[in-house]
Amino acid sequence: MTEPLLSVRGLKVGFRHRRGTDWVVRGVDFEIRAAERVALVGRSGSGKSLLALSLLRLLPLNAVAEGALFFQGTDLHRVSHRRMALFRGSGITMMFQDAPAALHPVRTVGEQLEETLRFRQPLASANARAAALELLRQLEIPDPEARARSYPHQLSGGMCQRVMLALALACRPQLLVADEPTSGLDPTIQIQILKLLRESQERSGFSLLLISHDRRLVERLTHRSLRLEEGYLTEESRPGPG
Ligand SMILES: Nc1ncnc2c1ncn2[C@@H]1O[C@H](COP(=O)(O)OP(=O)(O)O)[C@@H](O)[C@H]1O
Ligand SMILES: [Mg+2]
Repeated sequence: MTEPLLSVRGLKVGFRHRRGTDWVVRGVDFEIRAAERVALVGRSGSGKSLLALSLLRLLPLNAVAEGALFFQGTDLHRVSHRRMALFRGSGITMMFQDAPAALHPVRTVGEQLEETLRFRQPLASANARAAALELLRQLEIPDPEARARSYPHQLSGGMCQRVMLALALACRPQLLVADEPTSGLDPTIQIQILKLLRESQERSGFSLLLISHDRRLVERLTHRSLRLEEGYLTEESRPGPG
């Protein structure tokens, strides 16, 4: 067995009150290996987003987390803010639940992609532009040149999600956390986005944590499922992805 990429031990996430802490995630252990696709399922409000945000130390200010979070052996709960900032993106990248709000409103799609690509590696501007268009093409975005000149408010929900995925891929993460990447989209668009996620994962080989309240939607795409219920995780194994 190879070393897990991410190993979470005794993770608790909750909200502090005057008289104590209300724990939403009450102590969970799990691992994600290199190139593995794992689903995180559970009903709305069960704490899936909080769990995901805690992996990046991006919890709301009134939230607290305890436990250990080993990424390739380093406990992310113990590294400096500066190291954590560098680690976001290249180590773990997140596609947030509310995609349109996560995009910069007054920068074009092309600008945002080029900036992300150049943050990751030094690129001449012509090369960054070509790489941005290539990503849009990979995500089957029609007329990529025109889309690169668009602002987020000019895009449909499905197109926003493709752009979010393009931005995530531009980071070349080792682990991509996709929080409800298809919520609010039409069923046919949902299937397209999930297919693109899977193809991207197979092409690039990152690990994927795919979060959804809809277990049936994500289980076909992943190797195994973790279910969050009453603050605890249970694992559901199954014979290989379809
Ligand atoms: N900033 C916050 N302050 C207080 N409670 C919160 C906050 N964010 C989330 N919660 C509560 O934490 C619980 C889990 O939320 P969340 O992680 O968003 O669930 P899920 O993603 O599974 O739908 C919910 O009961 C929610 O109301
Ligand atoms: Mg959520």
